Amino acid sequence: MLDFLKQPSLNPFDGYAYMREHHPIYEDEQGVWHVFCYEDVKEVLSNYAIFSSKRSGDIEAYDPISASLISQDPPRHRLLRSLVSQAFTPKAIAALQSRIQEITKELFHHLHESASPDFVKQFSYPLPVIVIAELLGVPSSDQERFKEWSDAIVTGSHALENGEEITYDNAQQEMIEYFSQIISSRKKSPKDDLISRLLEAQIDGEALSHMDILGFCILLLVAGNETTTNLLSNAIYTFHNYPDVWHQLKANPELMDQAVEETLRYRSPVQNMSRLTISETVLSGRILPPGKFVVAWIGSANRDDRVFPQANEFILTRTNLRHVAFGHGIHFCLGAPLARLEASIALRYMLDVDFQFVVDEKRSELINSNFVYGFSRMPLEQCTS
Ligand code: HEM
Repeated sequence: MLDFLKQPSLNPFDGYAYMREHHPIYEDEQGVWHVFCYEDVKEVLSNYAIFSSKRSGDIEAYDPISASLISQDPPRHRLLRSLVSQAFTPKAIAALQSRIQEITKELFHHLHESASPDFVKQFSYPLPVIVIAELLGVPSSDQERFKEWSDAIVTGSHALENGEEITYDNAQQEMIEYFSQIISSRKKSPKDDLISRLLEAQIDGEALSHMDILGFCILLLVAGNETTTNLLSNAIYTFHNYPDVWHQLKANPELMDQAVEETLRYRSPVQNMSRLTISETVLSGRILPPGKFVVAWIGSANRDDRVFPQANEFILTRTNLRHVAFGHGIHFCLGAPLARLEASIALRYMLDVDFQFVVDEKRSELINSNFVYGFSRMPLEQCTS
């Protein structure tokens, strides 16, 4: 039934539509439950009293991602989110605007001058990594390592140029060592960066532990990297398929933010998020037992035509864009303002310089995952401005 999810596909959407119609809530052979309709997906993502984010049980001391806020329920989640929000503020994000513009300009120049331009390699991958590295206060010259780590975390392993393999556990271990050193050094001599501000954050005398900060740094690196890369490449791919939209945007650049939101809905960078049931519950008439993994298919919810009429069309002027690409409820993406800002600045810049491009569809490659949706390679046939 879920064979369509075994291989990464540009179009998992027909499969989702079939599931929404015939098996909106489906238990697979491994006893994992899959949820496909918009309202059910929202319920699973937001009802933390039943659907827990503690997917690997209690906090494991050696696993910082399992200890980070994305894997916690209230009250611990509330405390962690309030503490990190003191450092990761709208003001801190807005302050990045001119730096994002500079990086955009620089990367675009290289892409444009390249003899074999690849949008992912030369633009959509480096932009978010450089921004996060600068935000955290770590050298962006380490971005190759960041890429290897985040790939290994997202897909379970990553093949290195020298033929070796980096696994999820290796990547996590290397990140622990890397960030531990930086955290210790900021403790001794704080700088004007996110890690130093995380060390200062306090609520009622409670501060973040070394492990909390480690978990948050690793989470940001992983959560903020691949996702924003995919938003940018999915937008370019969509504009390639809808040249009229690109022309419409040229005439009305103020519609770019709307185009970013419709891209988030239409080709959602994160296709699913999972939870673990705490107790027996009824969801749209089905009884779900306790202790079950539940996969909430965000990519399907965002194509549910009961909520988004003509859901399989990219409609620039769509109103009522209540997509769940950034999740829903208490875990709503903390980095959404940053991702939106990066996408808006980068794509507006391309409009301003009158970027003309054709994606080489044959040589483009999808990321090997049904969790994140996007491209690992996107060569451009034509690229002028
Ligand atoms: C949470 C998607 C960019 C940091 C989430 C969640 C989703 C998501 C779906 C909800 C997880 C859940 O309910 O279990 C995206 C997408 C992005 C993006 C589609 C880009 C287009 C970013 C960036 C950052 C970031 C740039 C940071 C630099 C986080 C964090 C959480 C989160 C820290 C956990 C929030 C919590 O548990 O309270 N994101 N994200 N994300 N995201 Fe993002």
